[in-house]
Amino acid sequence: MFDEVAAHYDRTNALLSVGNASLWRVATTQAVNPQAGERILDIAAGTGTSSAALARSGAHVVAADFSAGMIAVGTARHAHNANIDFVQADATALPFKDNEFDAVTISFGLRNVVEPKKALDEFYRVTKPGGRVVICEFSTPPLSLVRRSYFAYLNHVMPRVVRLASSNAEAYDYLGESIAAWPTQPVLSGWLRSAGYSAVAYRNLTLGIVALHRGTKS
Ligand SMILES: C[S@@+](CC[C@H](N)C(=O)[O-])C[C@H]1O[C@@H](n2cnc3c(N)ncnc32)[C@H](O)[C@@H]1O
Repeated sequence: MFDEVAAHYDRTNALLSVGNASLWRVATTQAVNPQAGERILDIAAGTGTSSAALARSGAHVVAADFSAGMIAVGTARHAHNANIDFVQADATALPFKDNEFDAVTISFGLRNVVEPKKALDEFYRVTKPGGRVVICEFSTPPLSLVRRSYFAYLNHVMPRVVRLASSNAEAYDYLGESIAAWPTQPVLSGWLRSAGYSAVAYRNLTLGIVALHRGTKS
């Protein structure tokens, strides 16, 4: 599915999020707070848009994704960037050593992983002691009026827009369904604690349509 949407993935994102995608990315990059010389793992990196924002700091970013199509678009687009390495990898079986990364991050990817708790265990394993995890993901708006309007948008407006913008509109039917099925902010925070992270916290973006979760490996 991800191979098929890779070509127009970023354009479709900008359209469906009504421009908010770039704001969410800025907030995520600030939360990761990458520093020159650090080694950062961006999992489910897709075409590398999230990785490029992180690499601007001078940190070295490993952009991992299991879709060959996404990796192909990302590698071609960021070939000039010596601070990004693309690696084909599954989030639930990472091909990295224990304690390898100063920060591990995933944007709009954890919801797509079939076994998200297993992925969180892997994130914890490869995070250095003292290192951090940052997860940016669609979430549940706490205000019921916002929540109802948002789910009406997902169910009735987005499918029509997608038919105009994406190379594979059917793949986006999955987007609305997966957002509706995704756990709330407190539940995901609990999963992070169960994986071993401490100082777990989250903040809502755009009224909770997206949430930014963080944790630290002691
Ligand atoms: C919605 S895209 C997000 C891409 C990018 N992080 C961004 O913010 O634009 C989700 C990505 O998750 C990847 N993905 C899904 N399951 C995965 C898994 N188990 N391991 C690695 N990548 C996975 C897909 O291939 C896809 O590129």
